[in-house]
Amino acid sequence: MKKIISIVGARPNFIKLAALSTVLEKHFDHVIIHTGQHYDYGLSQNFFDELLIQQPNYNLSVGSQDRHDQISKIRKGCEKILIKEKPDIVMIYGDTNSSLGGAEAAFETKIPIAHVEAGVRCFDDTMPEEINRKTIDKISNILFCPTEISIENLRSEGVVENVYLVGDTMHDALLRIKLNLSILKVTGVKPKKYYFATIHRQKNTNHIRRLEILLKVFSKLDKKVIFPLHPRTKKVLLKLKNNFKNINLIEPLNFGNSISLQKHSKMILTDSGGVQKEAYYLKVPCLTLRNTTEWPETVKSGWNKLVDDDENKILYYSKKFVPPKRHPSYFGKGHVAPKIINILKEYLYDK
Ligand code: UD1
Repeated sequence: MKKIISIVGARPNFIKLAALSTVLEKHFDHVIIHTGQHYDYGLSQNFFDELLIQQPNYNLSVGSQDRHDQISKIRKGCEKILIKEKPDIVMIYGDTNSSLGGAEAAFETKIPIAHVEAGVRCFDDTMPEEINRKTIDKISNILFCPTEISIENLRSEGVVENVYLVGDTMHDALLRIKLNLSILKVTGVKPKKYYFATIHRQKNTNHIRRLEILLKVFSKLDKKVIFPLHPRTKKVLLKLKNNFKNINLIEPLNFGNSISLQKHSKMILTDSGGVQKEAYYLKVPCLTLRNTTEWPETVKSGWNKLVDDDENKILYYSKKFVPPKRHPSYFGKGHVAPKIINILKEYLYDK
């Protein structure tokens, strides 16, 4: 049986792996390396338990540190395991430091790399995720793209071989979730009577003033803001003495509760790539707290507005956002896993 190793380490990696894990396990000898980039229960093990992802075979426990040290530790740790395990393919998910470190390890040990969510670009090289994506795509052997635009991005960079349009694995993960209203009760909100917000991008957390501006705007919104806190954001928030009104800060959510709270919110305010897409699937208007996006389709269709940290825009759209009637399926219709399995088999057996 052919062997496939998946390398993951952070929350968005786990969600992308969720839709594939059980099928990979069925068709291949599937081994999982967890880099340990995310280590808090709420950001890591929670997702394996909830989404029934096969438990990792290895955990590198790299933890948090400077980006370059983190990537280098991940690369070295993965290299040792790849040399021992000798997989036929290494699967990489998305654009985190774990994705890049894992891809570099596979490249160094000459093992073919399959990249899930290839070709995604926001054209902002100040974001570590953008550098990670571009580097991973350059060294990947099989590129699984979620959208037509991601295929086009790769084409314009001269990458055309083994590029496949498969759709979005995060959509598959979302389709498996049972929405529930109990988390709304626990949080003390009623459907469509609150905003859902997430902030964790370096751009918004490394500049304390920017985060303060955003929180001040949130406190002026006409409804309560439910705000699950990423540990990075929590650290910065603790430095702000201000007690912001109208904002309900909560612990990181599991996937089901996050999707349920998003689905029933009046509007989503976020700087996350994944949440922008989830807002689109759930047909909830989205304000993106950045001036770029990985998902231009959501903006073009009118479901997502790039508002950056502009108070006037945020307050304006919080009242005047009319959800469009059109909702094209830019990201496929789910069922990505069987497509990916067939392509992997073709690559492994038809050569
Ligand atoms: C990473 C990804 C980002 C993704 C996000 C989702 C990169 C470059 N970025 O960012 O694309 O959207 O995950 O969550 O890989 N921390 C904890 N506990 C944890 C994990 C992190 O307290 O379990 C703290 C650390 O102290 C660290 C901070 O969070 O200072 C940031 O962690 P890091 O691994 O750098 O990346 P994320 O910001 O989580």
